[in-house]
Amino acid sequence: MSAVAPQPEILAAFEAAKGFMPVEEGLALYAAAREAAALGLPLLEVGTYCGRSTILLADAAREAGTVAVTVDHHRGSEEQQPGWDYHDPETVDPGTGLMDTLPAFRRTLYRAGLEEHVIAVVGRSPQVAKAWGGPVGLVFVDGGHTDEHATNDYEGWAPRIAEGGLLVIHDVFPDPVDEFTGQAPYRVYLRALASGAFGEVSATGSLRVLRREGPGI
Ligand SMILES: C[S@@+](CC[C@H](N)C(=O)[O-])C[C@H]1O[C@@H](n2cnc3c(N)ncnc32)[C@H](O)[C@@H]1O
Repeated sequence: MSAVAPQPEILAAFEAAKGFMPVEEGLALYAAAREAAALGLPLLEVGTYCGRSTILLADAAREAGTVAVTVDHHRGSEEQQPGWDYHDPETVDPGTGLMDTLPAFRRTLYRAGLEEHVIAVVGRSPQVAKAWGGPVGLVFVDGGHTDEHATNDYEGWAPRIAEGGLLVIHDVFPDPVDEFTGQAPYRVYLRALASGAFGEVSATGSLRVLRREGPGI
């Protein structure tokens, strides 16, 4: 995969955004997004949170004249709820007492100047996947970390990846790291490889990039 890098202002926006992705993994995601965007199809993300990774997909989409689509119910994953290790009190809406990352996400995109290159879908990944009609050039799985969520994301979105398109999975940990991250994304990664439909392109930190090499999932 070519070592394309985002412009300094895009990288600065990524680093300034709330989120969990290290720069090294962001650069690998960006390289994958640039390659996949050349197919001219939408780039699809499951797990928007506050838009940190979306910035990179949006910039790659902008360069290629396509669009990034990002899906999230914006109520946070299990490990991001109050009382858990990945909770950020600033993400709680005082009006409801629930997490709502949509306002922070919108600020992130606005500040990065990328609003017009993103379609944000507020909803649950399996429902959105059912309603989604066409092929995509890339699927980035960074949603819920339970087996139920990770499997739903794979089964809902991987069938949409066009020939030559990329499947990118975050938080792939071959060895258990802690009780919050879990190994569901790792199991999805193994399943994708075992299917014969996807081959591995790169591994950077916990980010895995796979390419569609055949039909199915
Ligand atoms: C780890 S965060 C995403 C981080 C983001 N990609 C970044 O780089 O900053 C996971 C997100 O997935 C969302 N999520 C979890 N399960 C979901 C589901 N079933 N449908 C839609 N979004 C979901 C949560 O609300 C949370 O915002």
